[in-house]
Amino acid sequence: MMLRQVTRTLVVSFVAISATGVGFAQGNGATVFEVKCQMCHGADGLGQTPVGKSMGLKSLTDDDTVKKSDADLIALTKTGKDKMAGFANKLSDEEIKDVVAYIRTLQKK
Ligand code: HEC
Repeated sequence: MMLRQVTRTLVVSFVAISATGVGFAQGNGATVFEVKCQMCHGADGLGQTPVGKSMGLKSLTDDDTVKKSDADLIALTKTGKDKMAGFANKLSDEEIKDVVAYIRTLQKK
């Protein structure tokens, strides 16, 4: 009985911790990008990664993307595009907003 309760408490706290996404606690757009986007889009956003090349990625710094509004980029990230699956269920609105803000910093480089 006792052991079962302990196990349950552990499971419940683990789920609670995962749900808040410890690594992104500060809503750090750079961290989100590094963990969730970089493997395709590249650290510089140019898309010159093996996966990026195989998917024919455009650079996130292209005029075409620069011209899109933050709302557009947030929507594209949420719902996905071509071979990119949407992140609506994987990231919070806050994280998506932060990661788009981070993409803006890549576009200024
Ligand atoms: C599995 C590879 C992959 C991952 C991971 C990935 N993307 Fe993409 N992304 C793509 C592909 C493929 C496209 C569509 C082709 C294109 O627009 O270059 C795309 C397009 C986009 C676009 C649209 C650009 C435009 O101007 O239309 C945005 C914005 C974007 N990704 C943001 C993100 C963000 C933010 C993340 C991380 C949270 C991310 N992507 C993770 C592959 C990926």
